[in-house]
Amino acid sequence: MPKQDLAAIHAAPPFSIVIFGASGDLAYRKLAPALFSLFCNELMSDNFVILGAARSEFTDESFRQRIRKGVEEFGRFKPSENDKWADFESRLFYQQLHYDDQEAFHPLRQRLERLEKERGVAPNRLFYLAVPPTIYAEVAENLGAAELAAQHPDGFSRLIIEKPFGTDLQSAEELNRRIHSVFSEDQVYRIDHYLGKETVQNLLVFRFANAIFEPLWNRHYVDHVQISVLESVAVGYRGSYYDQAGVMRDMFQNHLMQLLALTAMEPPNAWDATQLRDEKVKVLRAVRAPSTPGALRTNTVRAQYRSKDGSGPTYRQEPGVDPKSETPTYAALTFFIDNWRWQGVPFYLRSGKALAGKTTEIFIQFREVPHLLFNSGVADLAPNALSICLQPHEGFHLRFQTKSPGAGMRTRDVDMEFHFATAFGEKALPLAYERLLLDAVLGDASLFSREDEIMASWRLIDAILKGWDSGEGPPLSFYEPGSWGPVAADNMLAASNRAWSISCFLDQGDET
Ligand SMILES: NC(=O)c1ccc[n+]([C@@H]2O[C@H](COP(=O)([O-])OP(=O)(O)OC[C@H]3O[C@@H](n4cnc5c(N)ncnc54)[C@H](OP(=O)(O)O)[C@@H]3O)[C@@H](O)[C@H]2O)c1
Repeated sequence: MPKQDLAAIHAAPPFSIVIFGASGDLAYRKLAPALFSLFCNELMSDNFVILGAARSEFTDESFRQRIRKGVEEFGRFKPSENDKWADFESRLFYQQLHYDDQEAFHPLRQRLERLEKERGVAPNRLFYLAVPPTIYAEVAENLGAAELAAQHPDGFSRLIIEKPFGTDLQSAEELNRRIHSVFSEDQVYRIDHYLGKETVQNLLVFRFANAIFEPLWNRHYVDHVQISVLESVAVGYRGSYYDQAGVMRDMFQNHLMQLLALTAMEPPNAWDATQLRDEKVKVLRAVRAPSTPGALRTNTVRAQYRSKDGSGPTYRQEPGVDPKSETPTYAALTFFIDNWRWQGVPFYLRSGKALAGKTTEIFIQFREVPHLLFNSGVADLAPNALSICLQPHEGFHLRFQTKSPGAGMRTRDVDMEFHFATAFGEKALPLAYERLLLDAVLGDASLFSREDEIMASWRLIDAILKGWDSGEGPPLSFYEPGSWGPVAADNMLAASNRAWSISCFLDQGDET
């Protein structure tokens, strides 16, 4: 079998990154720490420029101080403990600009060209939109007007766009149209940071670098699949944003649909952005949206957290939330996939806030044994199950039956476990943004969402949201904060004699 050339992974060319919204939270907590980690790990060329751009007033010096604080607090490598900081910091610059001022993009370009020249950096440019989604298109258009979007003959020009990409199918299409008026699709890198997580990529390694699981990965052996992205935090200070978005736009359209696609897709022919994304789109297009009134009522649940006795938070009382809000903070969906591999296998997806714990996991329950030889000692013998734990305890659990020691042939289910932290050490896992930023510099778009993926996902989510808005869906239900969600979600599975599983969550100390 041909071996991969692993050395190629490290070949990052000299580049510049312009971060719009550099004064904000994302740049502070995620982007700067990720860039410094890449630098410390010698995954970046010595020649690079980081140019922050935003409306706030900073000098190069005060911007460096702010970024240093963020890296100190959130980075894997701390400036105070690392002699590389001074070197890194000397490549950090700031340019004040108003995003809607087209003229301001010309001095930005001149500054960038000057820095590239001084530092000997080729015109390999990344433009990172770390600004509110409402101004993505405007910044992209202004980059175009300043001739920064066109690829330089000796370099590249790429646009990195944060989530959310649109608020529904129509707005996503409109945003895409405006961005494509200046950047072509192969220049656009849409981030879903879930795809940058080591464990999400490991799902692909698990499926396609092991021969023993893939033959079982289909309707003949799998009873059902569950994908859970559960959060213990409530909405908190994000109330006014969240009340417009809700759990469907905030979590389902991007993270859960990506996890579904990676779990259910066919094997791509190669580790290649086009082939990988072709397979994801293909399976997303095969997902049947529960959009008829009957399917909406049996296959979807929407709920809000509400504390009965006031001892916990209530969504409608959160700052910035409409006291009569119908926005769901929790949803559970049953999807079916109309293809040969998955016909008839339910995929149960759920996500919510203010729950009993934080865990992201994929649970694959296999079919029961066809005939039971032994007296298990319990009414129902638990079938085999594989849990893929994505966070916070990254790893795998495989459930199987063993004989209970002693006389007779009583059985008991046990877990065979693998955890990354145990196998590779706590610090082995890089931040999601490290991987994604490096891939964007290298021009590997495999872990970024292509336009057709985003639209396929929006088509499904839109159909459900429209059904709910028309009053044909299930009524909004409520759940106690600190519980594992509404009874209606349990009933959705109980109707086919199934139950939700939480295999990866350990205890309340799990918050990360
Ligand atoms: N923070 C995260 O962990 C995270 C995670 C996933 C995705 N994202 C996405 O990443 C993007 C940036 O997130 P963020 O948390 O960094 O946002 P943020 O802190 O709210 O905003 C980033 C910067 O944008 C500018 N800005 C804020 N509101 C603006 C407005 N109404 N009009 C024009 N400029 C405005 C501000 O800079 P100036 O006033 O200095 O111009 C601000 O520092 C968003 O699209 C968000 O959805 C963030």
